[in-house]
Amino acid sequence: MGWKTLDDMDLAGKRVLTRVDINVPMEDGRVTDTTRIDRIVPTVKDILAKGGIPILLAHFSRPKGQVVPEMSLRQLLPALETAFDQPVKFADGNYGAAVQALRPGDILLIENVRFAPGEEKNDPGFAGRLASLGDIYCNDAFSAAHRAHASTEALAHLLPACAGRLMQAELSALEAALGNPERPVVAVVGGAKVSTKLDLLGNLVSKVDHLIIGGGMANTFLAAQGVDVGKSLAEHDMTDTARDIMQKAGDAGCQIVLPTDVVVAREFKAGAENETVAADACPPDAMILDAGPQSVQAIGAVLKTAKTLIWNGPLGAFEIAPFDTATKAAARIAADQTKAGKLTSVAGGGDTVAALNQAGAADNFTYISTAGGAFLEWMEGKTLPGVAALMTN
Ligand code: 3PG
Repeated sequence: MGWKTLDDMDLAGKRVLTRVDINVPMEDGRVTDTTRIDRIVPTVKDILAKGGIPILLAHFSRPKGQVVPEMSLRQLLPALETAFDQPVKFADGNYGAAVQALRPGDILLIENVRFAPGEEKNDPGFAGRLASLGDIYCNDAFSAAHRAHASTEALAHLLPACAGRLMQAELSALEAALGNPERPVVAVVGGAKVSTKLDLLGNLVSKVDHLIIGGGMANTFLAAQGVDVGKSLAEHDMTDTARDIMQKAGDAGCQIVLPTDVVVAREFKAGAENETVAADACPPDAMILDAGPQSVQAIGAVLKTAKTLIWNGPLGAFEIAPFDTATKAAARIAADQTKAGKLTSVAGGGDTVAALNQAGAADNFTYISTAGGAFLEWMEGKTLPGVAALMTN
């Protein structure tokens, strides 16, 4: 079982329906982070170099089967043209005619596939209409592969299908991190709530040697150990679950690393007056907002013995200084270990990339995934429909 890549396909003169994820952050009509666009450039250029004509299929935001003008992909044309260094044609209706008019060397972008009600329903009729526009299907949208939608799933069964370069890179990085990793393997999981990452924690304890827990969810684990966490963000109704996870980790030989000292404050705001106390000494009127220096040292010691790291989520309230200190310090240790050739480090999901960028550590990680939800589902051990659909026997 495996998937085909662009190297396995004869693209000369072929129209290549290329599913990309250009669901990028925007402000005042401008793209504020072009990472996802930059990462699809190799695929688009490769298709062109092999004589194929890329027809880009993508979604933007969540229009829920309606035409929502503010969610038109037209607004992304300038950013795409800059990235590809050539004009990009756009079709917002009569796709057949737009495709007929294409010439070798052209790139066509089709309007937001989620404007069509059939997209999110994975409707075979809609997938069939998309398939009629091309000869080959290339999926380069790992970050949308957790969705079983017409352009990410059904379409793969209707045309000769392959993975694009970004999809290939994401899959091999993830395989190196959890599929067949060099041990010891460490996972860093942070973020606010245990309840949103239950499946993930449950899967990780059976796969990794050390599980470092940070952020609000560490407070829930501390509370589960009987620690009074004062006014800290914690899910007190999840303490039984946290204890189950600790039990499961113990059975699997996975060490759970929780903070031993914490930075506490009485206000949740940047620059709030704060103090460092032992993890079991949070004053009743204070909240834990970051891991302390002793905890960072312990995390560093684990990272220095590790061969593989997978990271999702910040260790503290990284969006407000100085409560970003532990995340930044740990990220820099991971980056240094990676740079020294001692660690394979993979990170992804939501806030994680922003946190690593803020720490100036992202460039030295082995791989930073472009995926949010898809990265989490993959860490949970789930089969991603968009990836499964590419599999051939
Ligand atoms: C993402 O931004 O994570 C992907 O583009 C998927 O978007 P969705 O969560 O709206 O399906």
